[in-house]
Amino acid sequence: MFQRFRRTRLNKHLCALVRETQVSVNDFIYPLFIRSGKGVKTEVASMPGVFQMSIDEIIKECEELKQLGIFSILLFGIPDVKDSIGSDSLCEHGIIASSIREIKKVHPDMFIVTDLCFCEYTDHGHCGIIDEVNETVNNDATLEISAQQALIHANAGADMIAPSGMMDGIIQTLRTTLDKNGFENLPIMAYSTKFSSAYYGPFRDVAESSPSFGDRTTYQMDPANRREAISESLSDEAQGADILMVKPALAYLDIVREIKDATLLPMAVYNVSGEYAMLKFAGMNDLIDYERVVMETMISFKRAGADIIISYHAKEVAQMLQKQGV
Ligand code: PBG
Ligand code: ZN
Repeated sequence: MFQRFRRTRLNKHLCALVRETQVSVNDFIYPLFIRSGKGVKTEVASMPGVFQMSIDEIIKECEELKQLGIFSILLFGIPDVKDSIGSDSLCEHGIIASSIREIKKVHPDMFIVTDLCFCEYTDHGHCGIIDEVNETVNNDATLEISAQQALIHANAGADMIAPSGMMDGIIQTLRTTLDKNGFENLPIMAYSTKFSSAYYGPFRDVAESSPSFGDRTTYQMDPANRREAISESLSDEAQGADILMVKPALAYLDIVREIKDATLLPMAVYNVSGEYAMLKFAGMNDLIDYERVVMETMISFKRAGADIIISYHAKEVAQMLQKQGV
C-alpha cells in the first residue's frame, strides 16, 4: 500500500494526506543573546545571522519574530561584569532580570523562557561555584544560588525556567523553591540530557562563556552513554520537570527517540550553535541547498520525537513555511 503512495507521489494532496511528520512555526523557540548598551547589534563571527543585542534591539527583534509567528524566545544574558559566583544573575537589576521586565512591558504576549546557568556570568566560565580544593563545580553550593537565580527570573516575569547546568538535584530544588514562593504554575524545561559536546563551540564565543580551565565533563554527559542519557531525563521527570530536552540534537536523535518512548512528557531538542554553523557555512559556500537541508534537518527532529525545537534557524524556517504557504 505504501508503494502505491510512492507511485502517486506526484499528487501533492495525497502526499500531504499521508505525510507523517509536520514542521510548524509553533514548534520553535528562538534563542536570543542580550547585553547592555543601546543600539548594539553585533553579529557573531562563528554564527552568521546570530547577534548579541542590547535590550532596545531585542524589543525590535521581538516585533519581527511575532510577525513571523514566533512567540517563544530563550534568553541568554551577557553581563558587563563577571565574578566568581555570577553575581549579575543573582541581582534584580542584572541583565536578564531587567531584560525580562523591559520586553514584557512592550511585548506582554511573548513567551519568555530563561536559560538558568552561571557560565555566562562567572569569570571562570564554569556553570556554577568552583570548589577551590577540587577545582571543579561544587554541586550543592550551586543548587543554592540556582534557586536564587530562579526567583530572580520568576519575579521579573519569566514564563518558563530552563536550567542548563546539569547539576544533580537541580529540578527538585527549583520546583520546591518556586512552589514555596507562589510560582506553582511556572513550568520548568529541564536540559535533562545534555552531553559534553564540542558542538557548543560557537555558543561559547557568543556568550563569552568558555571555561578558563578544565572542561564541563564533571557535570555534562559522556556522548558514549545511552542508558545514562535516558536515566538522566527520567530522573528530571521524577523531580518534577515539565518538559525534557536532549542537547545537542543532530548527533543524538537515537537518544531523542528512546527518551520519547520512555516518557509521556513533551520533549524538546536543542539544535545547537555548532550544528547551525555547519549548515550556515556550507550554505554560504554553495556546498548544499541550504533551505532544503535546513528543512530536512527540522523534519528529522520531529520524526525522532521532538515536540519543541530550540533553533537559531527558527526565523528562516518561519520564512520558508510562509513562502510555502504552510
Ligand atoms: C549554558 C549553555 C550552553 C548552551 C546552552 N546553555 C553552553 C555550554 O554548556 O557550554 C549551548 C547552546 C549552543 O551551543 O547553541 N550552560
Ligand atoms: Zn552553563
